[in-house]
Amino acid sequence: MLVLGLETSCDETGVALFDTERGLIGQALHSQVDLHAVYGGVVPEIASRDHIRALLPLIQGVLDEAGIERPDAIAYTAGPGLVGALMVGGGLACGLGLAWNRPVIPIHHMEGHLLAPMLEDDAPAFPFLALLVSGGHTLLVWVQTLGDYRVLGSTLDDAVGEAFDKTAKLLGLPYPGGPALAALATQGNDEACKLPRPMLHRDGFDFSFSGLKTAVMLQVREAESQRNLDAVRADIAASFQRAAVDTLVGRTLKAAKYERAERIVVAGGVGANTLLREELAAQFEGRVFYPRLEYCTDNGAMIAVAGALRLADARKPATIQAMARWSLDSLTPPQSE
Ligand code: KG4
Ligand code: ZN
Repeated sequence: MLVLGLETSCDETGVALFDTERGLIGQALHSQVDLHAVYGGVVPEIASRDHIRALLPLIQGVLDEAGIERPDAIAYTAGPGLVGALMVGGGLACGLGLAWNRPVIPIHHMEGHLLAPMLEDDAPAFPFLALLVSGGHTLLVWVQTLGDYRVLGSTLDDAVGEAFDKTAKLLGLPYPGGPALAALATQGNDEACKLPRPMLHRDGFDFSFSGLKTAVMLQVREAESQRNLDAVRADIAASFQRAAVDTLVGRTLKAAKYERAERIVVAGGVGANTLLREELAAQFEGRVFYPRLEYCTDNGAMIAVAGALRLADARKPATIQAMARWSLDSLTPPQSE
């Protein structure tokens, strides 16, 4: 079976073709980063308009290159995300489904992220603990099996990617700030600034990053008032990254111990962070699985593979689903009608 996957929940237009026999056979990604960079963050209306421009040519290109006329099913991101952006992918998926007489499969964006390691030859077996870290989410999820998810903890305020982006902005780095901040951090001393490790000693598995963000802001203001921000920029970046990673690793290891996890999956854009990868690998006794870097950030392949695993959910394209909010807990294993 051939599944076409469409991702349009935020600022990347992703298209991919997954063959249940052969695996991934084609993909294309169009990033809107340059369009939003001038505004310092994603502008929803611009995102929707650009998905409209990019999506059809990307689909045509992926199908042509694979020599496929019609896939057997179309999976699309139905949420959570920017509703206008989601409606572009959902609308087109349903339109193509009607025209081609093919079913559609609505996919939860975060389920796509947590299933992205299934694209690799060395895929994790169920059950596993998933740390999902992106620009919009910070979640610790116990994944019993496909579609059986228990959210153990989430952020009480900012997502960790958002904290990276906001800190980068304070330091004068370009959007999206995560990769730029991580690069600058390699030149700094991560013990130079005293920063809090939020929630590390609290019960439960929730995260909070607003206190850390405020502490960084105070350090930046102090440096600005002393006119030496340039001299300490890398130290602040390194100290922030260390504090954020310590917090993520601390909470994750605690949850892994509680659930007696033998495997951890790290996915989402911040999963590309090298320090996070190194620390988890060094401190966790079991195995840590990551999607390759290009599948950590938003992409069509994770939606196509999620669709292939959820073929039983394929339905006639009767309604377009687009949900700004959608809890992972509410998902169920694939169900035939
Ligand atoms: O999963 P993703 O592509 O989009 C969302 O669904 O949000 O994640 C994007 C986030 C951004 O906040 C970006 O700054 C962050 O991932 N990011 C990183 C790194 N690469 C991307 N954060 C820290 N270190 C990185 N190397
Ligand atoms: Zn994402």
